[in-house]
Amino acid sequence: MSRKYVIAGNWKMNKNPAEAVALINELKPLVADAACDVVVAVPFVDLPAALEAVKGSKIGVAAQNCHWEKSGAFTGEISAEMLKSMGVGYVIIGHSERRTYFGDTDVTVQKRVRAALDAGLTVILCVGEYLEQREQGVTGEVCAMQTKIALGGVSADEMSRVIIAYEPVWAIGTGRTATARQADEVCALIRATLAGLYGRSVADSTVIQYGGSMNAANAAELLAQKDVDGGLIGGASLKPADFAAIVAAAK
Ligand code: PGA
Repeated sequence: MSRKYVIAGNWKMNKNPAEAVALINELKPLVADAACDVVVAVPFVDLPAALEAVKGSKIGVAAQNCHWEKSGAFTGEISAEMLKSMGVGYVIIGHSERRTYFGDTDVTVQKRVRAALDAGLTVILCVGEYLEQREQGVTGEVCAMQTKIALGGVSADEMSRVIIAYEPVWAIGTGRTATARQADEVCALIRATLAGLYGRSVADSTVIQYGGSMNAANAAELLAQKDVDGGLIGGASLKPADFAAIVAAAK
């Protein structure tokens, strides 16, 4: 079993195209020797500039969402096909901010995952519990359910293009990181869910990231856990030196 670490920066609604190019240019030399895959998830309008800026580096580019239809009357939406046609490689789906503020549900997440895979993209699928759910002791059930529904209809072969990001909602942007043990426990549980769906070999080869206030100081401990194969990093991904330190810890 060999899984390669994937460190992805989720820039959220930050940086205009010129600022995106500047950030990527700062980042490039810092991650040139990365032992892991490095991805930056930028706002839609930054995608052309980011794709150009990463040329000659190993940095991959992700979008932060996609719609499930190829085209049509969906004002304000962007299709997976459109992303693919530009040369985008990855798309984040089901981020808790999409679920919380923009009405994404397990069912729409499933539809977006389907569309992204059909278009040939690699999906970074986010799952994670709210604080009340953790306090009620249903973290495992919540994460297993979100994973199962999102992957409904996804084949074992397609799982090579699915990365799962475990992101406890209470840890996102709060500075309150899950402990390494909490992160590993839930990542292991998600892996067990995958084993139930697809068998051990798919489960063992699927990359499962942790996300939620991961930073240069705590990354090494989180990434050292058996079932944590990378990170989805928000705030710290906007600081090149911090993001590069996380990338360096992924080995
Ligand atoms: P954070 O965000 O690192 O700022 O907590 C993580 C995420 O939302 O993916």
